[in-house]
Amino acid sequence: MICLGIESSCDETAVAIIEDGRKVLANVVSTQIPIHKKFGGVVPEIASRKHLTNIAFVVKEALDSANLTFKDIDYIGVTYGPGLIGALLVGVAYAKSLAYALNIPIVPTHHIAGHIAANYLTYPELKPPFMSLVVSGGHSHLIYVKDYTDFEIIGKTRDDAVGEAFDKVARVLGLPYPGGPEVSKLARDGKFTYNLPKTKFENYDFSFSGIKTAVINIAHKEGENLRKSDLACSFEQTVTDELVENCMKAMKDLKIKKVVLAGGVSANLVLREKLQNASKERGYECFVPDLKYCTDNAAMISSAAHYNFISGKYYEIEDKLDLNAIANLKIEEE
Ligand code: KG4
Ligand code: ZN
Repeated sequence: MICLGIESSCDETAVAIIEDGRKVLANVVSTQIPIHKKFGGVVPEIASRKHLTNIAFVVKEALDSANLTFKDIDYIGVTYGPGLIGALLVGVAYAKSLAYALNIPIVPTHHIAGHIAANYLTYPELKPPFMSLVVSGGHSHLIYVKDYTDFEIIGKTRDDAVGEAFDKVARVLGLPYPGGPEVSKLARDGKFTYNLPKTKFENYDFSFSGIKTAVINIAHKEGENLRKSDLACSFEQTVTDELVENCMKAMKDLKIKKVVLAGGVSANLVLREKLQNASKERGYECFVPDLKYCTDNAAMISSAAHYNFISGKYYEIEDKLDLNAIANLKIEEE
């Protein structure tokens, strides 16, 4: 079965075509980063307008690159949340129109289920159950993936998402948006010399606003004497330690021996290495997504859509013309 997947939850207009959930026939990402960079972050209204002007061209490019036509598509997968509401609506409205015109089913898909599914594209043998450490610009979650479409949140951030913290720290250090890769690059020249607070809760929640504030305070206090690369390194080391330690604690307590990293921050090389090393020490299996599937793309959405489709979580378009985007969609409600 061939799925055409659409992702427009934030600042990437993305379309992919996937066969049977794992074989990528096309994966096109039209990024708006250069546009939003000028503003130091994503401007929601601009994002929606750009999705609108781009989407038909990105669909055409995906079909051409797979050497297929609309007639070859069996169903449409689309991100319907969570994300920026205006941005999501463009993808959802386009997906509904296309499904209606082609008279094929539509599969509403959760963005985070997509990030997790990025690993199915990377590892053909990977199957649930497993623990997923989901780290993106909008999420920091520990999710027990019981089955392809069955998720339980084990822990989550109580304030900022870790990607959001990376982006804010970047701004303090005078680095451009998106800040994660920039902070990480700067950290390579630095040493772990600044002492930053780590949070520990009774349960498996995270918190990143305290460390963000500590970074801001150090930057103000040190002024001209600030060792930017050391602060970047100290921040990266501290947050990645917190993520990995919490994940390992949850896995030990819940007796889960397989872990899957997901979300835009999974592109962070320090985090990937720490999670792999911590897993190896404990005899756990560890999976990290191919770098090209870490940040937002539609290949991952199409893979997640496939598992929704085969488990019956799809609609004949005639029955779901009122499908809406949901900005704060919960993964457990999928
Ligand atoms: O998953 P994603 O593309 O969008 C959301 O769903 O939010 O994640 C984007 C986030 C941004 O905050 C970005 O700074 C962060 O992922 N990111 C990184 C790296 N690459 C992207 N953070 C740390 N290190 C990286 N190498
Ligand atoms: Zn994302």
